[in-house]
Amino acid sequence: MIDPPDNDDDSLRQRPRLSWHAGDMPYSEEFGDFYYSRADGRAECRHVFLAGNGLPERFAGKQHFVIAELGFGTGLNFIETWAAWENTAEKGARLDFHSYELRLLDRDDMKRALAAWPDLGSRAEALIAAWPDRPDGDVVIVFENCGRPASLHIHSGLALEQVTAAGFAADAWYLDGFSPARNPEMWSAELMEAVAKRTCVGGTFATYSAAGWVRRNLQAAGFTVEKRPGHAGKRDMSVGILAADPPVPGQTKPAD
Ligand SMILES: C[S@@+](CC[C@H](N)C(=O)[O-])C[C@H]1O[C@@H](n2cnc3c(N)ncnc32)[C@H](O)[C@@H]1O
Repeated sequence: MIDPPDNDDDSLRQRPRLSWHAGDMPYSEEFGDFYYSRADGRAECRHVFLAGNGLPERFAGKQHFVIAELGFGTGLNFIETWAAWENTAEKGARLDFHSYELRLLDRDDMKRALAAWPDLGSRAEALIAAWPDRPDGDVVIVFENCGRPASLHIHSGLALEQVTAAGFAADAWYLDGFSPARNPEMWSAELMEAVAKRTCVGGTFATYSAAGWVRRNLQAAGFTVEKRPGHAGKRDMSVGILAADPPVPGQTKPAD
């Protein structure tokens, strides 16, 4: 059963046009896609984004870890990552989580979506409590608890513009736009190039998509790309590593 989207003026500007499937499953009317796997978004997050980037194992021994995400959506991936961070990171270590989002959810919509997983517990409550009622720009929230601070930086606007302007080098990327067929600008060659430029050598990405043109864009950007079994009956997903600095466009490889 799908509830129709609300159509007030704001929704035409910056807010997402949502409808709801089975009560708490958000669907984007603008992009024609669900925010996460209808089978289980939380299990998908662990399988695709955490395990696909070698997390939480790679947190070991790190005093600072940087994760960046294309598509913040409901915050589910952030909450799952923050839990893994608190459970495994060294005391005093800091997580910076940068996420790029064109259409920020209102607090009530975030609350409705995250209610699907009551055992997300205090972290979901803390995110919802700190989230603006109707965000209309960047959002920065620092969660200090447990002596392993996690800083959330939401960069609002078009991902390509925002990632191009970013000044960090990520250890891991979550590529989580809507499906490439419905949201091609979240997987473009230009954006994948910008992602690679903001990845440290040895840094990784993971995505649920195994679309050939997405994989080729990631390879052209400098990642070594590999297929892995997907989540919940999906045959493949993609992971990759940036083994060396990304190629400089127009620069040819020296002859052997
Ligand atoms: C699949 S959802 C992300 C789900 C999310 N990671 C979560 O945990 O709920 C894709 C997100 O990408 C955002 N998006 C789509 N095109 C974008 C663009 N060009 N720039 C930035 N964000 C975009 C959508 O608004 C949507 O929130």
